[in-house]
Amino acid sequence: MNASRHLLDLDDADHAFIEALIARARQFKAGVPNESSRLRGRIVVGMFFEPSTRTTMSFAVAAQRLGATWLDFRAESSSLAKGESLEDTMRTIRALGADAVVVRHAEAGFPHLLARHFEGSVYNAGDGAHAHPTQGLLDAMTLAEEFGDLHGRRLVIAGDIRHSRVARSSAQAAAALGATVTLCGPPSLIPATAPGWGFAELATDLESVLPTADAVMLLRIQQERAAGDMPPPADLARSYGLTAARANALPAHAIIMHPGPVNRGLELDSALVHGARSRIERQVENGVYMRMACLERNLGAQTRTRVA
Ligand code: CP
Repeated sequence: MNASRHLLDLDDADHAFIEALIARARQFKAGVPNESSRLRGRIVVGMFFEPSTRTTMSFAVAAQRLGATWLDFRAESSSLAKGESLEDTMRTIRALGADAVVVRHAEAGFPHLLARHFEGSVYNAGDGAHAHPTQGLLDAMTLAEEFGDLHGRRLVIAGDIRHSRVARSSAQAAAALGATVTLCGPPSLIPATAPGWGFAELATDLESVLPTADAVMLLRIQQERAAGDMPPPADLARSYGLTAARANALPAHAIIMHPGPVNRGLELDSALVHGARSRIERQVENGVYMRMACLERNLGAQTRTRVA
């Protein structure tokens, strides 16, 4: 069970921890009386050093629905640009009354660094190619809504696994709930020797794994993280893109997921994005409820201590 005041990754997240968050998120989705009083008076600061639509907006909506105040920190117009240290920035944000920060950064481990300088809660909203824990949790919620118990179910995650923070967190969450996880991509983009992936199966042929999939999650090609060692996107799409023809090989009940944003026509045919099997908008919707559950868990019963 994860007792930390932060949510930095899902490395220690067990079945009970994830199931409790999903249960609470589903309560929020069904309607919780007086939800807007649950975090009244709390302040949550979004610190996004990389672009985001879904994560930043759903965290903001989640905070505001719970009655908290959401503030956007803009690095480029902050005193970081005048040379203020990260440590002093975090002490300043805490002194202003912030209870939590939600941080996205290109550098793996950046949220963990912030957590050392901040007395409140730190939520990792994506760090480099490392982790995106709330994405993993909302994906697990989407799978659990669809299938209930995930034991005996197979999630295939396909495409650019190596540069994806979503792959790790979504695979960890689904596996913790009992799903079999298959990572499928070219040998250069699957983590054959990387530590921490022992629970996952590896595959290089998408067409051979689709008939056994209950859910297939395509990943965005992460050009911004590739250091000149990426196959051309069109080549990757040719072998690992989900086309309408390939989707016909899926079992009738299987669903299609994607964390977004989608490169239509590369990892996923345009017609599949909003097709009957797609749960992409459901993932976005569930993101609000899962982030409400995550914020409430760490901030709901917290008594704020005064800074010295
Ligand atoms: N899934 C995800 O992290 O999307 P954004 O980059 O839009 O936040």
